[in-house]
Amino acid sequence: MSTHGWWRLIIDAGNSASVCIVARAQRLKKMAEKKNVKMRKFERADLAEVKNLIDQTIGACYRGVYCAEAVQFFKDWHCIDRILADAEEGYTVVAKQGGQVIGTGTIVGNEIKRVFVDPAFQNRGLGRLIMRELEGRAILMGIGVVNLDASLPSKKFYDSLGYITLEKTFREVENNKRLDFYRMEKTLINK
Ligand SMILES: CC(C)(COP(=O)(O)OP(=O)(O)OC[C@H]1O[C@@H](n2cnc3c(N)ncnc32)[C@H](O)[C@@H]1OP(=O)(O)O)[C@@H](O)C(=O)NCCC(=O)NCCS
Repeated sequence: MSTHGWWRLIIDAGNSASVCIVARAQRLKKMAEKKNVKMRKFERADLAEVKNLIDQTIGACYRGVYCAEAVQFFKDWHCIDRILADAEEGYTVVAKQGGQVIGTGTIVGNEIKRVFVDPAFQNRGLGRLIMRELEGRAILMGIGVVNLDASLPSKKFYDSLGYITLEKTFREVENNKRLDFYRMEKTLINK
């Protein structure tokens, strides 16, 4: 092998070693952060904080992706009455860190709803943790297939969790504007 070839090998080995070290450090960081997160069932006293988390997350994550009418529709849709009714009928989880609600998700029947993670805590594995909790509930209830409506920016998140896309669809909102979303599902138990 030429001198150039050897150098290439050494540089490539060095590069892949540092990629591994960075990936490992990121995994360890995610694990440490997860340890400080407490997951528990939603309580009535969480309502204001959960609603605030949802509105803030919609504002931060949907602006620029959805039109203003669609953003408003999402905020109205996730109103206090629906949050309470779904929590009573199904199961709502809240993720807390240092006493602050930083994530939430709900399952009603076989439908997963209202999965939100505070933007400051996204991409650290919290959404995955919330989904694991909700899917675990579904399995306990003997539900074999769960479905959900995924917003445009969350589709890749659900893809990575094994959800399949049934269709891309939309609903009409104010001023004849469109709100696009995906219907997705996942088989948890093969009966
Ligand atoms: C969607 C959402 C809940 C994801 O929460 P999160 O804590 O950031 O997600 P995680 O860190 O657990 O990510 C889990 C996996 O999904 C992937 N993922 C998450 N968001 C992604 C994105 N926008 N693009 C590509 N991949 C993404 C991550 O890479 C990760 O994969 P990995 O574990 O193999 O690295 C969060 O971004 C959110 O609240 N978004 C706005 C509200 C929303 O749209 N909710 C869904 C309602 S339908």
